[in-house]
Amino acid sequence: MKTIKEIAVSVFMAFISLILLTGLIQSNQAIVIPEKTSGLLPGDMSFSVQEKVKYRYIGMEKCASVCHNNEDMGFQYNIMKDSPHSNAFKILVSDKAVRYAKKANVKENPQESPVCLKCHITGGGLDSSFFATTYKKEDGVTCEACHKGAFITKAFIPKEADCLKCHNDSIHRMHHFNFRENCEKIAHPRPKAKLKET
Ligand code: HEC
Ligand code: HEC
Ligand code: HEC
Repeated sequence: MKTIKEIAVSVFMAFISLILLTGLIQSNQAIVIPEKTSGLLPGDMSFSVQEKVKYRYIGMEKCASVCHNNEDMGFQYNIMKDSPHSNAFKILVSDKAVRYAKKANVKENPQESPVCLKCHITGGGLDSSFFATTYKKEDGVTCEACHKGAFITKAFIPKEADCLKCHNDSIHRMHHFNFRENCEKIAHPRPKAKLKET
């Protein structure tokens, strides 16, 4: 026969383990990578605050200052800075932009319209908690628009389907999209010699 004290102790222990266990499950949930978000942002808005902070957009200059503007890596920043994607926000003030906006029934300034920003900046349409202070929307479509599938922190190489999330006629007409040719147009590889070393 157990004494009252023994019973009280085991009930207490069971209670403590239950608390620890739920704690573990919860903290685990915070870092689980949801399969459905393995594509590119914008899209799913149901992220927790911690997730937003951990994976928020840091901006193109940060990518440059950390790794991507030197000879060993291949000067990706300089290349992309001079490519059309960097101009994607600025182009929203052009006459053509005004015409597209009118056609799409967008009444406000295209540079402030979530409808246009969805494809013309990195992380378009997401709330400010997704962005670090170093992020600048003026830089247009940047590294993280293509290389940062939600919750993927290591290198993510976009596929055709990822490009087509923006290169489609849903809001206005555009050139036919040829994946290989268009990748060539924006090519910014790492130097071959360096690739072999790693
Ligand atoms: C679904 C993504 C998407 C949306 C939404 C979108 N754009 Fe675009 N936009 C693009 C892409 C991609 C290009 C490059 C077009 C190409 O390759 O032909 C582009 C190009 C442009 C250009 C340059 C076009 C040219 O022919 O020189 C303008 C101007 C423009 N968009 C304005 C707008 C405006 C204004 C809105 C909002 C009403 C808007 N876009 C919404 C994806 C989008
Ligand atoms: C419009 C989409 C897009 C943008 C913006 C973009 N990239 Fe890329 N990046 C790609 C694609 C696609 C490839 C793979 C090209 C291929 O395989 O032909 C690539 C390849 C790379 C590679 C080579 C990967 C390897 O394994 O050798 C690096 C490094 C890289 N990008 C860094 C950057 C950085 C840094 C920026 C911003 C300054 C940037 N990219 C902006 C689409 C993009
Ligand atoms: C976040 C949206 C977005 C994504 C993702 C994206 N693009 Fe673009 N892309 C644009 C916009 C907007 C423009 C127009 C910029 C401008 O004219 O200033 C553009 C322009 C271009 C252009 C120059 C216009 C042309 O048709 O020749 C090329 C090339 C291009 N993109 C290739 C790619 C490739 C390849 C990928 C995928 C690896 C990709 N883009 C992914 C938004 C995007």
